[in-house]
Amino acid sequence: MKHLLKLADLSREEILSVLNLADQLKYERAKGVDQSGYLKGKKLGMIFTKSSTRTRVSFEVGMYELGGYALFLSDRDLQIGRGEPVEDTARVLSRMLDGIMIRTFAQKEVEDLAKYGSIPVINGLTDYCHPCQVLADLMTIREYKGTFKGLKLCFIGDGNNMANSLMVGAVKTGMKFSIACPKGYEPDAALTAWAKKEGDFFMTEDPAEAAKDADAVYTDVWASMGQEGEKAKREKAFKGFCVNKEVMAAAKKDAVVLHCLPAHRGEEIEADVFEAHAKEIFDEAENRLHAQKAVLCKLLK
Ligand code: CP
Ligand code: NVA
Repeated sequence: MKHLLKLADLSREEILSVLNLADQLKYERAKGVDQSGYLKGKKLGMIFTKSSTRTRVSFEVGMYELGGYALFLSDRDLQIGRGEPVEDTARVLSRMLDGIMIRTFAQKEVEDLAKYGSIPVINGLTDYCHPCQVLADLMTIREYKGTFKGLKLCFIGDGNNMANSLMVGAVKTGMKFSIACPKGYEPDAALTAWAKKEGDFFMTEDPAEAAKDADAVYTDVWASMGQEGEKAKREKAFKGFCVNKEVMAAAKKDAVVLHCLPAHRGEEIEADVFEAHAKEIFDEAENRLHAQKAVLCKLLK
């Protein structure tokens, strides 16, 4: 593993190895084990061209706990925001840092950083995918269910970056994957074709049908970062694509509900369902820290 640009680049074994390390790091942290030797003196640059709570804090705290240092680099301050080419930024940062985490719009920008730089690059979310989040999601599912074998993961809502990465994560770990989304808001076509070929994949426009016998029900916002202008149009298109009691009645009785957050109660998830499953959702958020530390150890050590 040289970079984490998208989950599809990782083998099943590599994914499981990250998850195992994340479990170990979580266990050690709970026991008060000093982890500051793992990445002693390593420096991570964190480029953000979009907002973030969980991704920024998990990587920044993660680097601190592992004995390294994290620099928060907003595009409002970087020369990249004034048009300095990615290929130049990549080569400069490669001479001073040990790794780069980037959250941005275009997947190509992330791929170019890796192409022109000489240090590991981690995708902290693009319009195309969100691999770091899905590693934490897989970790959470395994924590609650003990295995991936025989499980069904269901996604309700927009075929966005989360749907794209979850689909890959489910297929690679051997889970069934079902998705309910409105017409015109399906996940990436090439990934869908891949998932149909490689895994047990099902797509519908009916949320209850997708949720049938699911072990985990996942949802995300109707309008992602950068789509604020489409809010009204999307509210109309996604009406009914809400994780509510009816949808949960179709899932298994002991199904977990996951949400990458931030959540919009009354839109993609009903407030009561959110609160009934808050334990899982905030365990999932905490697991960002452990999963991101595992990624950092794999790439920067
Ligand atoms: N889930 C997630 O990536 O959260 P942030 O946008 O707060 O980083
Ligand atoms: N789909 C959301 C995920 C946020 C973590 C977005 O891109 O805004």
